Amino acid sequence: ETPEAGAAAASETAAQRPILRVLGGEALSPPPAWMMRQAGRYLPEYRAVRAEAGSFLDLCYNPDFAAEVTLQPIRRFGFEAAILFSDILVVPHALGQDVRFVEGEGPRLDPLAGRAEFEALKDAGDPAVMDRLAPVFATVARLRRDLPDETTLLGFCGAPWTVASYMIGGRGTPDLAPSRALAAADPALVDALIDRLVTVSTDYLVRQLAAGADAVQIFESHAGALPAVPPGEAGDALERWSFRPVARMIAGIRARVPGAKVIVFARGSGLEGHARVPEATGADAVGVDWAVDLAALRARLPAHVVTQGNLAPETLIAGGPALDAAVDAILAATRGTPHIFNLGHGITPQTPIAHVERMLARLRG
Ligand code: CP3
Repeated sequence: ETPEAGAAAASETAAQRPILRVLGGEALSPPPAWMMRQAGRYLPEYRAVRAEAGSFLDLCYNPDFAAEVTLQPIRRFGFEAAILFSDILVVPHALGQDVRFVEGEGPRLDPLAGRAEFEALKDAGDPAVMDRLAPVFATVARLRRDLPDETTLLGFCGAPWTVASYMIGGRGTPDLAPSRALAAADPALVDALIDRLVTVSTDYLVRQLAAGADAVQIFESHAGALPAVPPGEAGDALERWSFRPVARMIAGIRARVPGAKVIVFARGSGLEGHARVPEATGADAVGVDWAVDLAALRARLPAHVVTQGNLAPETLIAGGPALDAAVDAILAATRGTPHIFNLGHGITPQTPIAHVERMLARLRG
């Protein structure tokens, strides 16, 4: 069976899933909800599995454990979407780069400093690349079996620029200086790296969809390091390094999985950048970060475009009446338009579980 065949066989009931209905352009009230990083260290049941699993990558590549932690926030909170538990850095790992997660510090990679390290990566067509990612597809298949019928299953990957920034810098860097320096010094090399990531990430998402994901989200978490100056023109770094590669991915996915639904989260790209996402990339839905005025963005977007977001994770930590007011403001800004309730970035470990419950109670009335 080709990967494409499984995706085409999506069931009747899939069309009834609230998040898929919204991704199809329906405005639901209240909007369905999920949270970025909803499986994570703020949950004691996650920490328990995490401790048992070994390293963070062991957890990502173990379908039993990865499916279990994906299901935990669904059982506890009844979110309308589950997001596959994995990480954006499994793609460089599959390409042969050394990736480790240092406890309390975050990811560390052997930096891709120049041509030599690029040449050492596996080719996009090397079967070993998708072989290493096979446990992820097994997790997706298991999840689609074990999730409630009404729950949408989201696959994901990082956008090429964001993944490249970790590959080049070897770690998260505040302003992506190493990636911007390499893009300036050897743009052809960065183009080649982005091309490799476009091909592999497209394959990766097609296989997630084939294994049972209902829709996918592309995380461009480091769009903020790319100035959109002048907007939409040759010198526009956001267009060149982010929107065009993401557009190629989405076109490639849809060529193989017709009608595939894609959410693009271009964090840090500002009101202007967020407003450009649908046209520039072909995304069905715009993930909105916490810094954007959702009402102002909504006013800029065509009515059929779906939005997702954008409660500030800090407001969720604060809780109380400020949290209620922020939920109300999001509902007011998106009333009558297709919207998926979410945070404006991932939930953080110190967030009280009671505040997540309060957020959902307010949302669901
Ligand atoms: O619940 C979900 O949202 C699904 C799982 C998920 C993880 N990472 C699990 C994770 C998803 C969608 C990601 C995406 C991801 N990973 C992004 C894009 C989203 C964003 O936050 O901007 C990025 C930039 C990464 C890279 C990454 N992974 C970093 C920078 C870190 C360290 C930061 C931290 O919180 O520790 C990780 C580790 C990571 N990925 C954790 C989780 C739950 C925490 C590690 C642990 O549990 O020990």
